[in-house]
Amino acid sequence: MSLYSLPVAKDLISRTLVGMKSHIAAARGRDPATANASSLEILLTWPGVQAILAYRLACRLRRSGVPLLPFAVSYVSRAVTGIEIHPDAKIGPGIFIDHGSGVVIGETAEIGENVTLYQGVTLGGTGFQSGKRHPTIEDNVTIGSGAKLLGPITVGHGAKIGANTVVVEDVPPRSTVVGNPGHPVKVDGRKLTDGPDADWIHLPDPLQDAVKSLSARIKELEQQVAELSGDPGPDREEPGGEPKKGRSSAGG
Ligand SMILES: CC(C)(COP(=O)(O)OP(=O)(O)OC[C@H]1O[C@@H](n2cnc3c(N)ncnc32)[C@H](O)[C@@H]1OP(=O)(O)O)[C@@H](O)C(=O)NCCC(=O)NCCS
Repeated sequence: MSLYSLPVAKDLISRTLVGMKSHIAAARGRDPATANASSLEILLTWPGVQAILAYRLACRLRRSGVPLLPFAVSYVSRAVTGIEIHPDAKIGPGIFIDHGSGVVIGETAEIGENVTLYQGVTLGGTGFQSGKRHPTIEDNVTIGSGAKLLGPITVGHGAKIGANTVVVEDVPPRSTVVGNPGHPVKVDGRKLTDGPDADWIHLPDPLQDAVKSLSARIKELEQQVAELSGDPGPDREEPGGEPKKGRSSAGG
């Protein structure tokens, strides 16, 4: 079988060596920690670089129709780096995975050029459906640590996904998306002031509002009854006043 012939093996090795240089360059461009590290140190100890090199090898073996070996390469790479990349995923040049551990890139995921992923990023599916079920990430996207991108969504070029964001819908180009569910807070470097309210912390509480309004109404009615009857009414504790003295419910 020609797959195992010497020229094929030589081609694989030479492409892998060329890939090494570009992946080390990507690490140098985006990880300040590489400043004092030699290329050999990066190659031997940067899991993100190792995982991508292993993926490139697995991908080529798979496209050449070699059985078993592509998955074996992925499996070993995952055990060593903590990064799981399916050999059928499509990944463009210039990708950099920083730290790496816990990154999962699914079978039908597509990643453009110069994309940066931090640890714990998942490019996953939402269920058991087949076909295209993983995200498409366009060029120059940065995805923060712990972010989960689920389903066949598209993240537009130049977008930034905040750490721990959960994204289940398309992301506009050049936007910043944060939160769960992920929502845009910036587009083209400008904060969004129009559109949906981005304050997910101070949410309205209709129940609390209704109780407050009823409480105020009861107080008003009590005052009116007291005025009509000349009776000062029950001795009520005002909210925020001194707590009533008595046995502590804490026991002891
Ligand atoms: C999203 C991120 C890329 C910043 O993008 P940016 O376009 O510069 O956005 P800003 O910093 O101006 O933040 C915009 C708003 O989103 C908020 N925000 C930023 N990141 C957030 C996050 N991960 N989760 C929730 N809110 C976030 C900011 O507080 C700010 O809110 P405000 O408008 O109320 O002040 C960055 O915050 C981030 O999460 N980077 C990932 C870094 C990472 O994973 N590092 C791991 C190193 S090991």
